[in-house]
Amino acid sequence: MVQQLSTRHVLGIKYLTPGDIRLIFETAKTFKEVINRPIKKVPSLRDITVANLFFENSTRTRISFELAEKRLSADVVNFSASTSSVKKGETLLDTVNNILSMKVDMVVMRHPAPGAHHFLSQHIDANIINAGDGTHEHPTQALLDAFSMEEKLGDLSGKKVLICGDILHSRVALSNVFCLQKLGAEVKVCGPPTLIPKYIDQLGVGVEYNIEKALAWCDVANILRIQLERQDIKFFPSLREYAQYFGVNKALLDRLDKEIVIMHPGPINRGVEITSDVADSNHSIILQQVENGVAVRMAVLYLLAASR
Ligand code: CP
Repeated sequence: MVQQLSTRHVLGIKYLTPGDIRLIFETAKTFKEVINRPIKKVPSLRDITVANLFFENSTRTRISFELAEKRLSADVVNFSASTSSVKKGETLLDTVNNILSMKVDMVVMRHPAPGAHHFLSQHIDANIINAGDGTHEHPTQALLDAFSMEEKLGDLSGKKVLICGDILHSRVALSNVFCLQKLGAEVKVCGPPTLIPKYIDQLGVGVEYNIEKALAWCDVANILRIQLERQDIKFFPSLREYAQYFGVNKALLDRLDKEIVIMHPGPINRGVEITSDVADSNHSIILQQVENGVAVRMAVLYLLAASR
């Protein structure tokens, strides 16, 4: 019998137990083996239909989920808000209920409104996976980030993880904080004071405003993008100044007297939060993160399907 998660939706890391996270990682290890075989497909989700509903742009998450579903032999339908009847004024609930009436079992959704998935979970029967809700959570990104860190560093208990950049607008940051703390890691953030949320200390997260000191402290640095599309006021004088004070570059890494792992969830603004010679260096596991994303998402889909 398949071991089960404690929940039938993945709305956020906040609602997963450490046991759920471990179960997802153990399952993802098996699927990582599968997707590296010549025949990359298993029949686990045959007869399950998954709808990928994207109300916001995506490259990695959308392709990763679609590949994960296809590797598990699910039937897949893709919906993009920009080419849908949402443009004619249809509500979220009407949109989803119309799609579900075509016998869809699971919904993967990215939506700009924090809490949209929570709202849906109270109105529909399908399993829901949050693929990003505004500035709130991006649980599968945090799972693949932590899985990739563990692959590189072993048990994360006591490991020091820095999250650097636009913390205020980042759903990746909040999901990473919840996930890493549930796995026993210590978390600090670094960025301009205007991009650090005021409540951050209440989450048990440290703050360091000096990037050189922050990098010297950590075992792994997860560098985040400046989300200009979510910034309706100026949070810092210019991108050039941001890069000068908070950008991670080779000179900074060369001054460190230690090994460090560099991560980035993507998309990267090369030359702003990270330079190309760091993003493409031996320190970087950015493309391993993307590869692991498929295995982790296969695990999440498989385990939720088992709860049906
Ligand atoms: N990391 C991430 O969510 O990337 P996309 O926006 O391309 O999906």
